[in-house]
Amino acid sequence: MSLTKVNLSRPYLHYAPEKNWMNDPNGLVFFNNEYHLFYQYHPNGTTWGPMHWGHAVSRNLIDWEELPIALYPDQHGTIFSGSAVVDWHNTTGFFNDGPGLVAIFTHHKETDSGIVQSQSLAYSTDSGRTWIKYEGNPVLSHPSNPDFRDPKVFWHDESDKWVMVLATGQTISIYSSQNLINWVFESEFGTNVGSHEGVWECPDLFALKVEGTNEDKWVMIVSIGDGEGLAYGSRTQYFTGSFDGKTFISEHSEAKWLDDGRDQYAGVTFSDIPADSRRILIGWMSNWRYANQVPTDSWRSQMTLPRELTLKECEGHTKLVQHFPKELEQWFNHTTEIERTVNSNGINIDVEQGPVYLDLNTPCPKSGELQIALNYSDQTHTVIQFNFNEKKLSLKRSNSGKVDFSELFSKDQELFFRDLTELQLTMVIDTFSVELLMNNGEYALTSLQFPDEFLKGISLKTDAGEVLIKGVMKQ
Ligand code: FRU
Repeated sequence: MSLTKVNLSRPYLHYAPEKNWMNDPNGLVFFNNEYHLFYQYHPNGTTWGPMHWGHAVSRNLIDWEELPIALYPDQHGTIFSGSAVVDWHNTTGFFNDGPGLVAIFTHHKETDSGIVQSQSLAYSTDSGRTWIKYEGNPVLSHPSNPDFRDPKVFWHDESDKWVMVLATGQTISIYSSQNLINWVFESEFGTNVGSHEGVWECPDLFALKVEGTNEDKWVMIVSIGDGEGLAYGSRTQYFTGSFDGKTFISEHSEAKWLDDGRDQYAGVTFSDIPADSRRILIGWMSNWRYANQVPTDSWRSQMTLPRELTLKECEGHTKLVQHFPKELEQWFNHTTEIERTVNSNGINIDVEQGPVYLDLNTPCPKSGELQIALNYSDQTHTVIQFNFNEKKLSLKRSNSGKVDFSELFSKDQELFFRDLTELQLTMVIDTFSVELLMNNGEYALTSLQFPDEFLKGISLKTDAGEVLIKGVMKQ
């Protein structure tokens, strides 16, 4: 186990580049026992600029090694978001000697007559260390649509084809191919469903088993760029439904939200995890409203922790449920059991420097409030407040340290929950973030914070009588 030294200038458990700007995760793929994380990267500054694909690898999803830049801009443009797959059967003809990696990404070019976005390929025969751009690039263009980007590609067994989902303005277009080179348009999704408050970006499409059944459902993830008047800034919606290799049909028309916090964007899942044994998503832990202003020094932006996704039926709806992967546990050296009665006098849990994993359970009071404060100093805290009358969780970060770089940043984040008999909460607190999963992953809230001091302790108090809280803390 190689723990990064804890300090106040870097996250501990979350991937952040050594220096300069990062946004969306790209090309998430598992190959030769390594997880690859590529990402939107600007190597010449700490704000968004001409995009490259940065690269990191991990064997356990938590400890990432940064590698040299994978893809540089070229005559077709800069390198926007996209995906990567293993071409196991050499459908492309790029590989003579066993399987290799293919990256499918957007070339973005600003010309005198406007923006041109097209899809291109690059391949690697050395486990992603070096990349060769396909000489026939681009492989998929559009004569007029300037929003034509972020291809996510997967192999669809039933139709024996590659499938691409692509963000095309405020819809997702679906294409298919035998060889990743020639693409056929199949269908367009989204005209009358979901949220259309901003441009659609970074789609993903995959099947998952519904917990406790033998039924598979398809999940379409779509991020929505920041738009005028959006209360949340940029945000991610998802749909559940069916897919036959050509058309995705959503079983609902209202958007479902992946996360109720402001700092989970452009999340997509790993390709080629063996036998699809688990579906793991990583998101960009920021928000376009303030991403370029967040107060870090030589680097800017982090990824969320990986989230393992499952589907669960809750009150007639199919919900995406999120869990931290089992690999996370090995990063904590000791576990403290918690069994405390909390009342209006409050209790305090001491912590050591470093990240905190907290898992708490309590019978859910019918009324009143429970407050959990992450205390950094007498004046600085992030407050998580449950209001049981309104069935509302609020995360308040207006006094959490540096907040004045954005008006939206200090506004409360809220999550409304259904009737629960038991309140279950899992929280990971890192230098610059709180990731909160509630009711065994049914609700998620991901939130950045920029305190000036180390976490000193966690205090709990309630006006709902005597509340017995049980759980564990790992550090
Ligand atoms: C999403 C996004 C993508 C695009 C990339 C550019 O955050 O806008 O649509 O490919 O970022 O960096």
